[in-house]
Amino acid sequence: MRPHILLVLLITLTNSSIPPNFKKCFRKDPNFKNCILEAVQSGIPQLTKPFKSLDLPNLEPFEVPLLTVRDKGGAVALNQNFKNCVFYGLTTMKIQDFDLDFGKKTLFVDSVVPKMVFKCHYQLEGKVLVLPIKGDGNSTIKFTNFRLKFRSFYDEIVRNSKTYYTTASTEMQSDVEHSHFQFDNLFNGNKELGDNVNLVLNDNWRQVVDELHPEYNEIVRQILTGMIEKVWTKVSLEEMFD
Ligand SMILES: *[C@@H]1O[C@H](CO)[C@@H](O)[C@H](O)[C@H]1NC(C)=O
Repeated sequence: MRPHILLVLLITLTNSSIPPNFKKCFRKDPNFKNCILEAVQSGIPQLTKPFKSLDLPNLEPFEVPLLTVRDKGGAVALNQNFKNCVFYGLTTMKIQDFDLDFGKKTLFVDSVVPKMVFKCHYQLEGKVLVLPIKGDGNSTIKFTNFRLKFRSFYDEIVRNSKTYYTTASTEMQSDVEHSHFQFDNLFNGNKELGDNVNLVLNDNWRQVVDELHPEYNEIVRQILTGMIEKVWTKVSLEEMFD
């Protein structure tokens, strides 16, 4: 499982409608690429509260009210409902590469979150590696070195003589170096069965992550795409970068 919601925000703005501590970068600056990487890197740890002017949520923790993934068959065939989820650690994200190309109208972000913790109220029913699994309770999933590469392609639109980006398409790849699962209260609190399932999940974490990866990668891609699109909708390229 690997919900991770990443952020990658375009927080490069310093402007009245824009949070004051975000560094401004000018697209004509020959050092634009370094400037924006630093601006985003220094902006992310500031997202410990929402920025309404940009529609950016609080990232520490980042709240997701509901995540649902239906059983798709395979070795990990699970109906999964997660409610009242919180992610911790997103503001420690390290940006490895941030390439906003105005000629190609593309954005590429490569980033790593060293430690991320995802807490939810879960409901699970199905099978993991032939073991039946069923339960309802608190869950904690930990991820080490969650890496995300996100690419967007934009179209330009003009409103009130200002240029705005609008998303044409996005792609995302993600991976994790290690995951740890803890599901409390499996099988109505039967400790022996519950401990056994957690053990099997953790002994086989790589396979579990690989099986669940396509759906979660897609969920994160959509969340990220939406978050970045909101910023682009609010602030024109001229306001952001001239
Ligand atoms: C489940 O998690 C919630 C939120 O963190 C907490 O308030 C509650 O006490 C936990 N319940 C149990 C049974 O541990």
